[in-house]
Amino acid sequence: MESFNYHVPTEVCFGPGSENQTAALVQKYGGSRVLVVYGGQSARKSGLLGRITQQLADAGITYAPFGGAQPNPRLSHAREGVAQALALGADLILAVGGGSVIDTAKAIAHGAANPGTDLWDFWLGKRPLTKTLPVGVVLTIPAAGSETSDSAVLTDADAGVKRGLNTDLNRPVFAVLDPVLAATLPRYQVACGVTDILMHTLDRYFNPVTDNETTDALAEALLRVVLRNGPLVVENAANTHAMSEIMWCGSLSHNNLTGLGGKKDFAVHQLGHALGAMFDVAHGASLSAVWRAWAEEVAGVDGYARFARFARNVWDVTEADDAQAARQGIEKQVAFFRSIGMPVSLPELNVGDLDDAVMDRLAALCSYNHSRTIGTFKSLDEAAMARIYRAANGLR
Ligand code: NZQ
Ligand code: ZN
Repeated sequence: MESFNYHVPTEVCFGPGSENQTAALVQKYGGSRVLVVYGGQSARKSGLLGRITQQLADAGITYAPFGGAQPNPRLSHAREGVAQALALGADLILAVGGGSVIDTAKAIAHGAANPGTDLWDFWLGKRPLTKTLPVGVVLTIPAAGSETSDSAVLTDADAGVKRGLNTDLNRPVFAVLDPVLAATLPRYQVACGVTDILMHTLDRYFNPVTDNETTDALAEALLRVVLRNGPLVVENAANTHAMSEIMWCGSLSHNNLTGLGGKKDFAVHQLGHALGAMFDVAHGASLSAVWRAWAEEVAGVDGYARFARFARNVWDVTEADDAQAARQGIEKQVAFFRSIGMPVSLPELNVGDLDDAVMDRLAALCSYNHSRTIGTFKSLDEAAMARIYRAANGLR
């Protein structure tokens, strides 16, 4: 096990009805002038936005709504939000929505706390981020885990680039996790969320540290719970028991609990972000579309033992031979993605015919223009990235 620091200060308020505690939590964390960030239409249509703003008004909290965060949230929209937050004199940013809304709120908080700096400079690593405004969350979709994560992902649509920023300043001060709020989700979004939750743990589980008993056991338990309850919420998003399990796993999967003491890999996420930037596909779909090709690239020879452990402990594979067990585990995982309606190849993303030149452009994007490798389980250079995209493009 490697050494680690673990600091997850977010107050989690969990369970049906917990949305009613939002105004009290805003006040607890010093919010008196609040920018309420939301997405397209879902929070307005469901009545949630109205209930939250009514709570704020009843508590004497000044607020301004700021809607329009879209999936794969845009840098330009976050910049607009910074201007709104500064005009309001906001002292807390409240996100009502999913990962795209939360990440927009985080970006606005960073920009508003540092008015002289363009917020993208923090994402590009040109400026260190040393202060921010508090962010609170009312979660409406279990998926990204942004409600407790140290990450925020934005897309610069003009440059065609999707980037994450990792810092403890990205941790929200509170997160309201009310599983009933997810009952209005369309089936495909639920499936994308389940996939992302699995992948936040898989992208940590496949790493080179092998003497990490507690974390590996936690990861395997979480994966099993999500595999069991995922199909139930895809079938019926109003299944409160199953949605509770999925929502809690969503937060635990990406607050780093399932990666402590390991070496974070996250190669599949990096491969997926290039797809998200180029084709604006749903994040979960960008991951399932490349997972098999990634697994087959990295499992070979030295990777079999880890994949065999995954197959036996998560998928109950009984095969004694490691290479055979590894293959069976990969097949079972891919079959699961298929069973919940997720794409398992690039053609299934339905973004048109993709030729080899596109594969090379994706690899260039993913390698930040030939300047980085990805992954720790197996380090992948640009040529390996291109191989994975090509393999994913040939799979059906
Ligand atoms: O925009 P509205 O109308 O609200 O609709 C949303 C959106 O179309 C809809 N939705 C959300 N809650 C709903 C609902 N529809 C009906 N009922 C509800 N209760 O769902 C759609 C997807 O929402 P989005 O916020 O985009 O989903 P998700 O939570 O999956 O977030 C995806 C974004 O988060 C990033 C992804 O890259 C992507 O940009 N990620 C952020 C991470 C982080 N900050 O830690 C980690 C992740 O790996 C991920 O990269
Ligand atoms: Zn993700």
